[in-house]
Amino acid sequence: MNPQTAALVRDSWAEIVPMRKEVCASFYHRLFVRHPELRPLFKGDLERQTSLFVTMLNTVVSALDNPEPVVPLIKTVGARHADYGVEDADYEKFAAVLLDSFADALGPRFTPEVRSAWKDAYAELSATMRQGAEEAVH
Ligand code: HEM
Repeated sequence: MNPQTAALVRDSWAEIVPMRKEVCASFYHRLFVRHPELRPLFKGDLERQTSLFVTMLNTVVSALDNPEPVVPLIKTVGARHADYGVEDADYEKFAAVLLDSFADALGPRFTPEVRSAWKDAYAELSATMRQGAEEAVH
């Protein structure tokens, strides 16, 4: 990922972190309203889930300039997602809702450039997760 794109993701994420609880609560709410079929996949406590998700995004965002060391972790998490019953198409649903939740949180600071940077970052992240899921099967 080029350094400008990485900086857009990093800076906007730094703004979201202090609001993470509200942002994630509204994200999961919206995810389950738009895609009720995904609700049963989440069996645990959503507050705990939020904190695991935020921790993982922290790790990924801080590694954007040098992702190789975190690729094995991302693949392992991706393989676990296949076990949770997450399918390829679910990653797109998740992305659209996540970006909308970030847009709500940041308002006009979520510019088209920031949105596009997150799209790139998410595309790389989810591709690596799915690769991990595939490798675990074969
Ligand atoms: C960039 C994308 C994603 C990231 C970084 C992410 C991150 C995480 C993390 C860190 C966990 C905690 C458990 C673990 O490490 O295995 C988790 C659990 C989970 N994620 Fe994701 N996830 C992503 C995408 C998705 C998508 C697309 C779905 C589809 C609905 C999904 C559904 C779940 C479910 C069902 C659990 C288990 C929850 C439970 O046990 O209650 N995730 N995710």
